[in-house]
Amino acid sequence: MINNFDFNIPVKVLFGAGKLNELGDNVKQLGSRCLIVTTGNFFVESGLVERIQNILKQSEIQSFVYTDVSPNPLDDQVDNAAAVVKKENCDFVIGLGGGSSIDAAKGVAMAAGHDCPVWNFAMGTHDAAIEPTEKTLPIVAITTTSGTGSHVTPYSVITNKATKQKPGIGSEHIFAKVAVVDPELMVTLPKEITACTGFDVLAHALEAYTCNIANEMTDLYAKEAIKLVGKYLITAVEDGNNLEARTAMAMADTYAGYAIAGSLVTLCHAIAHAVGGVSETVHGQTLAALTPHTVAFSMNESPDKFKTVGLLLTGKSETERDSFELSDTLAALNSIIKATGLAIPLSDQGVTESDLIEIAKGTTEYMAGIAEADVKAANYDDVLQILKKAF
Ligand SMILES: [Fe+2]
Repeated sequence: MINNFDFNIPVKVLFGAGKLNELGDNVKQLGSRCLIVTTGNFFVESGLVERIQNILKQSEIQSFVYTDVSPNPLDDQVDNAAAVVKKENCDFVIGLGGGSSIDAAKGVAMAAGHDCPVWNFAMGTHDAAIEPTEKTLPIVAITTTSGTGSHVTPYSVITNKATKQKPGIGSEHIFAKVAVVDPELMVTLPKEITACTGFDVLAHALEAYTCNIANEMTDLYAKEAIKLVGKYLITAVEDGNNLEARTAMAMADTYAGYAIAGSLVTLCHAIAHAVGGVSETVHGQTLAALTPHTVAFSMNESPDKFKTVGLLLTGKSETERDSFELSDTLAALNSIIKATGLAIPLSDQGVTESDLIEIAKGTTEYMAGIAEADVKAANYDDVLQILKKAF
């Protein structure tokens, strides 16, 4: 029996090697001036920014560049970029890079479109928070990593250093109008970032699939993403120039993005966000430290689905289900974590023991909406126990 659901991902996806060249034709209806938001000078120095500006110029679009974005984008960085949008009278915003750049670009589009600080939209963190509206400027995403899925999701994660919070803002108004997923842009991605962003893909797919609001459509995308990660992530990490593996991971990232856009992430992401708010950790590393423990916590509540995760990840067929145990799913997860160099406890990621209390509080307070999407309810003590195991 298939239950009722809504599914709406209104993003034009340009997928495949060389698709960046089609950017201009696909965004010229959004306006003639835009701001390119990216993390640091890496893509300026690599020449990619200039290449994009030239592509835009051919469609008579003038572009400006903003590079002051941290790996965990900060609200004041977003507000400063929004001021550039206003000053230069930009019509739309391009996020170029990984999830950080794309999430920042979404924040810029909200802040500039509504002429207010981005933190006004940080729902769940303060009572005065408001939802973004159609005033949000159009967003374009050019993804250079295979992780976060942000190019096809209605989510943006912004960090506030003062309040030490890292909430996810969710709204149908922050879907990108156009997303470029060109695997040729990913071949130079360093090993460590390939591993971290690749694990983020797996966490999205696993959590969306086992989430208590998953549906038939999100299951389909999530399962396909898990299968692709199992088959290609280690190759993409070990041989970055392998275009087949890069393309497969880009596809997995996009599928997993569709899955979380229609379903949700769960306990592991709720804790990981609270970790990221307190300590500037790398999202994928934090997820890898937590996932075996959050899965162990929840798996008996939905044994069939958690078994499916293990079967897909190891490339096993349905006929092997009866001899496959839930502990085999955990073993498969631990094996991929080890093989990709992500077996790093939270204590080696800059988290201190005294941070754990604040993280557990953040998970069960401002991240409660995500934590509650897990198939098993976790209270403060449960979260603290999970954190201690991952520490
Ligand atoms: Fe994530």
